[in-house]
Amino acid sequence: MADGQGYGLLKGKKGLIFGALNEQSIAWRIALACKREGAEFSLSNAPVALRFGELDKLSEQTGAEVFPCDVTKEDEIEELMQEVKEEHGKIDFILHAIGMSPNVRKSDSYQKLNYNWMQQTLDISAISLHKVIRYADEAGILNEGSSIVALSYIGAQRIFSKYSDMNDAKALLESVARNYGSRLADRGIRVNTISQAPTKTSAGKGIKGFDGMYTFADKLAPMGNPSADECADYCVTLFSDLTRKVTMQNLYHDGGFVNAGIDEEMINDLAKLYGEEDREAE
Ligand SMILES: NC(=O)c1ccc[n+]([C@@H]2O[C@H](COP(=O)([O-])OP(=O)(O)OC[C@H]3O[C@@H](n4cnc5c(N)ncnc54)[C@H](O)[C@@H]3O)[C@@H](O)[C@H]2O)c1
Repeated sequence: MADGQGYGLLKGKKGLIFGALNEQSIAWRIALACKREGAEFSLSNAPVALRFGELDKLSEQTGAEVFPCDVTKEDEIEELMQEVKEEHGKIDFILHAIGMSPNVRKSDSYQKLNYNWMQQTLDISAISLHKVIRYADEAGILNEGSSIVALSYIGAQRIFSKYSDMNDAKALLESVARNYGSRLADRGIRVNTISQAPTKTSAGKGIKGFDGMYTFADKLAPMGNPSADECADYCVTLFSDLTRKVTMQNLYHDGGFVNAGIDEEMINDLAKLYGEEDREAE
């Protein structure tokens, strides 16, 4: 938002935000946007991330309490939901901005995945969404009409080689959002994923070949890659009452990338790169 003022879209709303690690984190930008729009919320991240991250700074800026929770551990999620209940009573939104693949970090080839690591990838990046929703609901903290958003990537639909088993994790994440969304719809609770374009964050930069993925998307998307702050503005609309009947969707926030074919500029660039070879081959 140009003037940084906000529209009061989340006035009176309370929430829980997972995944802010440092200022670049998409969750960090979303937390700032939620604050700007009038929300109160708690922040959570894995204990190890709290030791090495900068979450205290965000906590000071937003007045949000920080609760440690490793989302692979059910007992920790259960405890977290009780803490959130004590802090806020009921809540109106949850952000799941959590992803990690040991296989991607180690750059092992997809054909030779370490299956223990693959289980961790799926557990951290996808099954955790199920656990978070389940224990929030069992703690009775989800208000009618609340909104749950998880961050996804187009690797769920199209294969990006360096994204390895995260392609699989995002496909599962999107499926969990649809599956759980269908079961909460009678209480007006929405569950959606935002499929965000490549964004320069710790998780992003942890992917070998990220710069190529970033540039490819930026060149192909008619509007170019949206920033983390732009993702935050979009997310706010999904947490707000303006999107009450949007559920079980995977929503692309990618500057048009998903529907782009090829434009004049890229045709010309490719002709310069390969044109002569093509002519020789004719
Ligand atoms: N950066 C991109 O290009 C991009 C694009 C599309 C989607 N996304 C998704 O956005 C989300 C946020 O990632 P980001 O890019 O802001 O990077 P980030 O590194 O800032 O955030 C990832 C977060 O996951 C947390 N996490 C990892 N393991 C955890 C665990 N066991 N328990 C609790 N938290 C854990 C990390 O501590 C970190 O805060 C992820 O789901 C990511 O896949 C990122």
